[in-house]
Amino acid sequence: MQELTLKVQRYLPGKDKRPYIQEFTVPLRKGMTVLEGLIYIKENIDNTLSFRSSCRMGICGSCGMLINNFPMLACHTPVEELGMDRIEVRSLPNFTVIRDLVADLDPLFEKHRSIKPYIVDSEEIEEPTAEFLQSEEELESYMQFAYCVKCGLCMAACPTVATDALFLGPQPLGQAYRYCTDRRDSGAKERFRQADSRHGVWLCHLAGACSEACPRGVDPALAIQLLKRAMIFDSLRLSKKKKPASIAEEPKESKLKIAVPEFTVK
Ligand code: SF4
Ligand code: FES
Repeated sequence: MQELTLKVQRYLPGKDKRPYIQEFTVPLRKGMTVLEGLIYIKENIDNTLSFRSSCRMGICGSCGMLINNFPMLACHTPVEELGMDRIEVRSLPNFTVIRDLVADLDPLFEKHRSIKPYIVDSEEIEEPTAEFLQSEEELESYMQFAYCVKCGLCMAACPTVATDALFLGPQPLGQAYRYCTDRRDSGAKERFRQADSRHGVWLCHLAGACSEACPRGVDPALAIQLLKRAMIFDSLRLSKKKKPASIAEEPKESKLKIAVPEFTVK
């Protein structure tokens, strides 16, 4: 039987001064994921091993960890794809480790909350008189960004988060854009203010690591650039008609699949 060596970060607060690596050998079967390897360890070798998981299908976003130095979802990472029989697994960087592979994601959720990740009191929604129909184009303007599962991989990959823990980061900023671009929403101004802070959107220097790490194809780096553009348009108070062609027009052969909406900040 083939075997897999899993080098797993261990850390027990109050006992260990710092995280260390422990090696485990587990039987390797076809199609096995990194998460299944960890579950094997927990069920058969050491039941004190701590890690998060739930859906096992890349939906809940809870099994994010650093696998061979790249932030990935353990349930979504087949061992075969890594092409080796020795794999190192650590907790997500840019987050404090709570125990073993469990990172403290509270800062991510606090930042996410701070950008108001919901539709803000549109009059049309408060007192609806009919269905609020959206066009295909309007839906497309935010759909891609709505696939975020809050796994935090983008935050773990971001070099700016690594140097400034207060930087809002790709997930919250991407979601700020997602809601601003929703025609039912009236909270763009508040989110722009939040994103325009010292630790906000302008610190992003487009490394693109967030989009590379994202397991859901959200492309937070794109969302951040679109957010910057929307904020600039807003600050210049340009209406669609008045926009200079150099900023307003999309390249004719744009490869972007999403529609870039015009902002009417309410
Ligand atoms: S943008 Fe992608 S990587 Fe970041 S939290 Fe959302 S799903 Fe995860
Ligand atoms: S267990 Fe839900 S995303 Fe991996």
